[in-house]
Amino acid sequence: MSISVSEPLTEPLTWPAEGVARVPYRVFSDPDIYALEQERIFRGPVWHFLCLEIDIPKHGDVRTTWLGDTPIIVTRDHDGKIHAMINRCAHKGALVCLKKSANVESLRCVYHAWNYGLDGKLKNVAFRKGIQGKGGMPDDFDISKHRLEPLRLEIFSGLIFGTFSSETEPLRSFLGDRMTQFLSRNLGRPLKTLGVHSQIIHNNWKLYAENVRDSYHATLLHTFYTTFKVNRLDMDGGIILSDKKWHHISYTKRATLKPAQEYNEAKVHSAQYESKLAGPALLAAWDEFDDGITHSIQSVFPTLVVQFTLNSLAVRFFVPRGVDKTELFWVFLGYERDDAEQTRMRIMQGNLTGAAGLVSLEDGCINEFVQRGTRTSPQRAAFVEMGGREAVSNESSRATEAAVRGFWHGYRNIMGFETESTR
Ligand code: FES
Ligand SMILES: [Fe+2]
Repeated sequence: MSISVSEPLTEPLTWPAEGVARVPYRVFSDPDIYALEQERIFRGPVWHFLCLEIDIPKHGDVRTTWLGDTPIIVTRDHDGKIHAMINRCAHKGALVCLKKSANVESLRCVYHAWNYGLDGKLKNVAFRKGIQGKGGMPDDFDISKHRLEPLRLEIFSGLIFGTFSSETEPLRSFLGDRMTQFLSRNLGRPLKTLGVHSQIIHNNWKLYAENVRDSYHATLLHTFYTTFKVNRLDMDGGIILSDKKWHHISYTKRATLKPAQEYNEAKVHSAQYESKLAGPALLAAWDEFDDGITHSIQSVFPTLVVQFTLNSLAVRFFVPRGVDKTELFWVFLGYERDDAEQTRMRIMQGNLTGAAGLVSLEDGCINEFVQRGTRTSPQRAAFVEMGGREAVSNESSRATEAAVRGFWHGYRNIMGFETESTR
């Protein structure tokens, strides 16, 4: 049995018979598949993270972002209501808002000065009646028929999501109960931004989506995790998939460490070091919650991640910039109620992750290694059988690729890649 899809790819894709335990390398480098993803995932019935509510705290605040390839504006109007719309002038399609963020009365396109309200409605057209009675728009021009194209939006725990599709289910059911509970645990109180940065990674966006779900690699690739006992597979932890398997939570309880022989027996490079931190205070974390969880990664399909490593809370999201290029954004957060010392600790622990993070810098290149290793062999496939062949939760071990398989389950579902037997 194999899986295939013909329409609308010129060259049909055949998915290996093993299902989500295999991933055809072609999906990482085929421009036709990239274009189809823009239609089915990014403009399809899926919620996409746009920005945080605290990115636009004041009336008149504007934030630009991306939903797949499409430029987006998110605003808070003068009544405090939040709107999302395509950043594309209704006249000739120019970008309307050119800055990352601003506080404005209205949105004015620089090309011919069409002026929009913060709800995206067109308010004014320059020279509408012409100049000195000559020129101008036709008499039947109806200003109310032109506006910036709106998106549906919903907000959960300070995260603003948008979708182009009228068929997208309500956000809460898209996320499911386990995911909303954990988002509330981490983000469900007033937040403040501590810092933001971004990096370009030279790989297909789905390799990063896999990477954040890959609990197998975490202590093998990331020496810092293992050496300094921040996150290891010989600590209690698990993987929780959402009901539909698209999203996941991976969690670790640092205090439960029982050093396992396997780290030495496997001679893994990450367990070969006897190092000491010159500044051990970096890891002097305080207990934030009473559930024992000291490290968690939560993904929301397709491109959002919420991380809580010790006391370092961050939202990551990634934007496809072409079939082999992705921009990864990191937004480091604290709580408004934090005192100065807690804020200082969160900022210091922010050094664990990010583009040059002590833990995460390896991810900036490992996905490119996969991109480079696979691009000339689109007919081959990745082998994803650690922890079984199914995409199911596992609350006793993170030596599994269950969440990676969960991503591919969701991906194939939304892309319409069906098994031959069900076609
Ligand atoms: S393109 Fe915006 S006013 Fe002409
Ligand atoms: Fe990693």
